[in-house]
Amino acid sequence: MRKHIVAGNWKMNNDLKATKKLIKQIKKSIKKIELNTTRVIVAPTFVNLASAVKRSKKSKLEVAAQNMHQAKHGAYTGEVSAEMLKSVGVKTVILGHSERRAYFGETDELLAEKVNAALANKLEVIFCFGEELEDRKAGNQEAVVESQLNKALFHLDAEAFRHIVLAYEPVWAIGTGETATPDQAQDMHAFIRKTLANKYDADTADGVTILYGGSVKPNNAKEIFGKPDVDGGLIGGASLNPEDFFAIVNAF
Ligand code: PGA
Repeated sequence: MRKHIVAGNWKMNNDLKATKKLIKQIKKSIKKIELNTTRVIVAPTFVNLASAVKRSKKSKLEVAAQNMHQAKHGAYTGEVSAEMLKSVGVKTVILGHSERRAYFGETDELLAEKVNAALANKLEVIFCFGEELEDRKAGNQEAVVESQLNKALFHLDAEAFRHIVLAYEPVWAIGTGETATPDQAQDMHAFIRKTLANKYDADTADGVTILYGGSVKPNNAKEIFGKPDVDGGLIGGASLNPEDFFAIVNAF
């Protein structure tokens, strides 16, 4: 059975002190509940990953990176490799976030390379994708999403999808306060699962965890997570506030 995941993408927020504090608060709050099949992940900035991993040991909290370079090592000033992430105990990496695509020019072709490098190093990938507002207005959202999956992931074999979590994040809903309605999220998640079933098989499609991301808050999480094909959320803004993040985790 696929797992539920609530993952906090901290983006470029929280210095070392704030990272330690927030990890402590989240650890304390999730201790109080039975997580059952729900995984809780946070993604601090690169510089604070080692500290975050250390501090979440002996707890159910997992730590992910927000990005990664595709090369093994070398002259890539400012970049971080899969091996480096692994060496500090990180097991999961977010790839393809819309901010990486928009501000740092990441294409699906580049993301395919990053996904390959992550999987080759046995890192789990949370792969983000989703349409822009113009696509949605023109009714092209499914074609856009299908093309993103096709270019970045569909060179992989079915087995690889055991190490991939999909995060559908409509760009128009990220950080805008505007959420896809639970039905819009469900429709797209069902479409994604159908696309996976067509490309691979029903078991693969059924086994992949598909998260929704884009202005998930304590007041809408329950309804969104209640949809059959929504397996959790990738949370930006609300993951910086320990009470809000906990309320979202608790929505399961
Ligand atoms: P948001 O961000 O929750 O602040 O909309 C989601 C994301 O960027 O993953």
